[in-house]
Amino acid sequence: MSKKLRSRDWFGREGKDGFIYRAWMKNQGYPPDEFEGKPVIGICNTWSELTPCNGHFRDLAESVKRGVWEAGGFPLEFPVMSLGETIIKPTAMLFRNLASMDAEESIRGNPIDGVVLLGGCDKTTPSILMGAASVDIPTIFVSGGPMLNGNFRGRKIATSDIWRFSEAYRKGDMNKADMLEGEAAMCRSSGHCAVMGTASTMACMVESLGVSLPTNAAIPAADSRRKVLAHMTGRRIVDMVNEDLRLSKVLTRKAFENAIMVNAAIGGSTNFVVHLLAIAGRIGVKLDLEDFDHLSNNIPLLANIQPSGKYMMEEFYYAGGLPVVMKELLSKIHKDIVTVTGQTVEENVKDAVCYDDEIIATLKKPFKTESGLAVVKGNLAKDGAIIKPSAATPELMVHKGKAVVFETIEDFHAKINDPDLPVDKDSVLVLKNVGPKGYPGMAEVGNMGMPKKLLDAGVTDMVRISDGRMSGTAFGTVFLHTSPEAAAGGVLALVKDGDLIEVDVPKRKIHLHVSDQELEERRKNWKPYDLKYGRGYVQLYIDHVQQANLGADLDFLSGGSGDEVKRDSH
Ligand code: FES
Repeated sequence: MSKKLRSRDWFGREGKDGFIYRAWMKNQGYPPDEFEGKPVIGICNTWSELTPCNGHFRDLAESVKRGVWEAGGFPLEFPVMSLGETIIKPTAMLFRNLASMDAEESIRGNPIDGVVLLGGCDKTTPSILMGAASVDIPTIFVSGGPMLNGNFRGRKIATSDIWRFSEAYRKGDMNKADMLEGEAAMCRSSGHCAVMGTASTMACMVESLGVSLPTNAAIPAADSRRKVLAHMTGRRIVDMVNEDLRLSKVLTRKAFENAIMVNAAIGGSTNFVVHLLAIAGRIGVKLDLEDFDHLSNNIPLLANIQPSGKYMMEEFYYAGGLPVVMKELLSKIHKDIVTVTGQTVEENVKDAVCYDDEIIATLKKPFKTESGLAVVKGNLAKDGAIIKPSAATPELMVHKGKAVVFETIEDFHAKINDPDLPVDKDSVLVLKNVGPKGYPGMAEVGNMGMPKKLLDAGVTDMVRISDGRMSGTAFGTVFLHTSPEAAAGGVLALVKDGDLIEVDVPKRKIHLHVSDQELEERRKNWKPYDLKYGRGYVQLYIDHVQQANLGADLDFLSGGSGDEVKRDSH
């Protein structure tokens, strides 16, 4: 071991201080030799019954502990703020940065030599990885794993079906009893959303960044092999401490580039962008919005998984999972960089075997040639907006139409089903004030539902633009993360009903056909949306959150403070 364990600053002390640090721990029944220089491994657990996707994490933590004990470490589990995407209001994203602060200070302030992060539901993964990146000790990730496929009356279903079910219910094609049965059928096992939504995208992100063991992304939560992976992770973190393999040695610029390319190949969620930018900001790697576009440019879609494709995460795992995708991409990604296994990317994936080429395709015969995320810019989005072409309608990638504007999400709900709403299939729906500051918390409402009268007429998609985000399980021709957002005075704030908007994804363009002079006139009369909460974390967030193109992190959280505790009151 090259470096003194940081936990020795607690448990290795003589006299009163050491007595206190050890004595209170001993009330949990640990024998004295646990304190004699073993690596202390923190298990940072986002378990919560209010985060149903992470409800099995106590079990998972026990598996990690077994591995840690076996390898000669001393595991200590601790809770951090957990964010249940489907439960917490107003939106989990509002609290991602708060949860990251909890993880950061919990890791730094405690006698931990290495940390195993347990995350699953959407924001629980980026938040704890952001926090850990700002501390930079040896760190490894275990994801919770996806749910098993849903099964509704013999038909496979998953989270993406929520949108189909709710549209069918609105149209009267499903009744209430059908809907209740659908609820139970969809979420029939532990785990997070079963498609390539944000949670699975985040699980793939940690694996492609090299901060988890291979196969972490796709093993279903209910599969016993998930526990085996947790167990092996517990063993591995002890070695990582001995090797002083810190997060900053793994999370290099090249690792981020790999994650972007892999995300394109799997059709990952648009939320990937804000989270990866925020993590890069914490570890000090420079990453721009444009990187997501140019790095994913020549990457075809290899994974045939919903919402871009047909299958689910369970089947993705049986087909070989992410190692197969990464092996197929070896000619494009950085294959010689180190990962938490202590091995290179290539060494990790070289033996991967594809067991079903309908689920994981090859570069020669991809599932779709269009993949990744396109970044469009123009007067309507000076600092960019993003779209996921594989989830959009090809015919709408180049489009001109008149704006139908909603000032807030409440305004949208009040008007969208009004039969007199002046909207047709060529209209462009524009939703303001759902960005980082405006909502606040950048709500997942960018894929705003279609007007009922168009649905009734058989229209299934139309161009939609907002400063918000979209659920990773949603789809449509949806331009998101418009920066600067309306609440920060972006041009989006000045759009009026009837304005002509042009989008051209091949040319990476988004343009509001209103003259600069007219926009200046409109700006004189523009009043910022009321952002006063007055107190508490939400006001702190509004005052300090950066725009989506910077990862929507709080400005004072960028970068890290290392693992040193600067003052010692004992
Ligand atoms: Fe938790 Fe989808 S709601 S992962």
